[in-house]
Amino acid sequence: MTEVRIAHTAELDTATREAARALLDEVFEDMTDHDWEHALGGVHALVWEEAELIGHASVIQRRLLHGGRALRTGYVEGVGVRADRRKRGHGAAMMEALERVVRGAYDLGALGTSDEAAKFYAARGWRLWRGPTSALTPVGIARTAAEDGCIHVLPLAVPLDLSGELTCDWRDGDLW
Ligand SMILES: CC(C)(COP(=O)(O)OP(=O)(O)OC[C@H]1O[C@@H](n2cnc3c(N)ncnc32)[C@H](O)[C@@H]1OP(=O)(O)O)[C@@H](O)C(=O)NCCC(=O)NCCS
Repeated sequence: MTEVRIAHTAELDTATREAARALLDEVFEDMTDHDWEHALGGVHALVWEEAELIGHASVIQRRLLHGGRALRTGYVEGVGVRADRRKRGHGAAMMEALERVVRGAYDLGALGTSDEAAKFYAARGWRLWRGPTSALTPVGIARTAAEDGCIHVLPLAVPLDLSGELTCDWRDGDLW
């Protein structure tokens, strides 16, 4: 039997944290400690097949600056389904659970995606950010041109100009 469970990071025991990290290491060849740390501190969607973890995604809070506001953003991280369990709806089930969290708690949703996964998010109503991206670094706002065209947002009540500038808060590792 397969089921999706939702839990805050604080509720994950050590074995579950290790299983999630191991799964993401398997899914992403270039997974770093920073990438894993970015996925913590929020709500996880975990797909269990009996005692085996086959899917992980989480949503954490960030501030994105746009249109003169610091928007409370549900930022989706660490989305991965074990290769031999893809195209069975597990990714969609995790996103559905996290989108409920985003809709209930945040001004918008956002995530950084690879070209391959862009279609998956677009089909769920996530919109490509067309404008320039940047980050609020310790030395001021810096362009993150390499990320332009990679950010998707889930617009909610706050009006967004998708061709305007979008600035993320600072963190170690990849900024988006
Ligand atoms: C992206 C990813 C999480 C999607 O997970 P998934 O479990 O395969 O997702 P789903 O099964 O819900 O949907 C994937 C596709 O399978 C299709 N699908 C869903 N159930 C299906 C079924 N029973 N039979 C056939 N196809 C099905 C979906 O329509 C979707 O089609 P699309 O790719 O044309 O949009 C997964 O491919 C993955 O881990 N990729 C590698 C890591 C990655 O790129 N992560 C995202 C980084 S931002």
